[in-house]
Amino acid sequence: MIEMDVAVIGTGYVGLVTGACLAEKGHRVHCIDIDESRVQQLNNAISPIYEEGIEELLKNGINNDNLFFTTDYKEGLHQKDIVFLAVGTPESEDGSADLSYLYKASETMASYVDRDVTVVIKSTVPVGTGEQIGDKLNSLVSPGVNIRMASNPEFLRQGTAVYDTFHADRIVVGANHPDAQKQLEELYHSFQLPIVVTDIRSAEMIKYTANSFLAMKISFINEVANLSEKLGANIESVTEGIGMDKRIGSSFLNAGIGFGGSCFPKDTKAMVQIAESVNMPLSLIEKVISVNEKQREILVDKVKSRFTSLKGLEVAILGLSFKPNTDDMREAASISIIRKLVDDGVKVTAYDPVAMERAKQILPEQVNYTNSIEEAIKGKQATLIVTEWDQIKDFPLDKYVELMTSPVIMDGRNCFDMKEVQKHKIEYHSIGRKT
Ligand code: UGA
Repeated sequence: MIEMDVAVIGTGYVGLVTGACLAEKGHRVHCIDIDESRVQQLNNAISPIYEEGIEELLKNGINNDNLFFTTDYKEGLHQKDIVFLAVGTPESEDGSADLSYLYKASETMASYVDRDVTVVIKSTVPVGTGEQIGDKLNSLVSPGVNIRMASNPEFLRQGTAVYDTFHADRIVVGANHPDAQKQLEELYHSFQLPIVVTDIRSAEMIKYTANSFLAMKISFINEVANLSEKLGANIESVTEGIGMDKRIGSSFLNAGIGFGGSCFPKDTKAMVQIAESVNMPLSLIEKVISVNEKQREILVDKVKSRFTSLKGLEVAILGLSFKPNTDDMREAASISIIRKLVDDGVKVTAYDPVAMERAKQILPEQVNYTNSIEEAIKGKQATLIVTEWDQIKDFPLDKYVELMTSPVIMDGRNCFDMKEVQKHKIEYHSIGRKT
């Protein structure tokens, strides 16, 4: 195997996981971040993000002397073969991707690159950004130094990011220069995964297309679920029936209260923006976004039609993070649900296995928090299931009967088997299934 000298700029979840996984495969990796306390933590093998398996990789890399964290660009960029740019590209006010961190990081790195290097954009960026950053870098670096650009988008899911890196369905390498392509193929050789080789613009397009397509699957199945519920059909049987058709596939078709997180909402909006900027509106993706916004309100609608008055109603919310196995609250459905309930005078008690500290900074101050599911549901008139943590899915149904006044469960994630629920004296409402 060819061991390479790699730098990764940005230690957010994409940069950190990329750096740690490359080190695990034997490459020498310097991760650079401007946040001093973060770098200090990382040098002690403490991960600033909740991600399964990451701390073990940090320990391995630090002990094997091939994973380093620094705030010093000069030290981090010294004699590198490949530099990854993995800084955030958050949503601007108009929905487009904010590239200011990317521009800043590339400007800073230009002063310290000390030999020909391949610069790889990992961040999700609008089509054309790689070429633009390449031109900028080449105009700023010392004479004689050449920058070859490449795009290598990531497809990691939060919570399973380490697993996803080692078991990816494919690696996408977009390069306009054969040397850059060859270097990236060598870098990833030991991963033994299929590699899709293409040009930079197509690689950038792949990332937005993949996320928008997955988001479309979710909005599609959610609309079908709502219709199934109205017509007395069961969305799980419908999904099974269509999913066995290999052209459709059965994955990523779980009906629920819509998609959240730091990627789908942001990337679908950015794709719409990109399309608008070249007068090629993407009406389908626009609909994916609006269907999702409506879907987030579905539990509140169910509460409103079940209870005559919301004022003073005592409700438990189980699960706050945008999905299980993460403490990330970005674009979590819980935020809009809880805000609406609180505005209507509902007394909300919330529980989440890991996201409560983050949630407290975002949710209305009227919300009460508890340290267990039992405490949260005790004496409540309704329980709303918002995130499908295993702990919530495995919680015994007879406990709801024992602890709630007269148990009403509104399950936004279809956590329970209908036949199981029917064995208990529970009024159960879910998504796309008959009550
Ligand atoms: C997503 C993609 O799955 C990754 O491939 C991509 O790399 C990442 O965005 C990114 O661009 O960085 P992530 O946001 O971590 O990953 O989470 P997912 O597991 O994909 O879930 C996203 C949202 O969709 C969650 O709110 C989840 O509850 C919802 N979802 C997912 C459904 O409602 N139904 C499903 O069947 C699947």
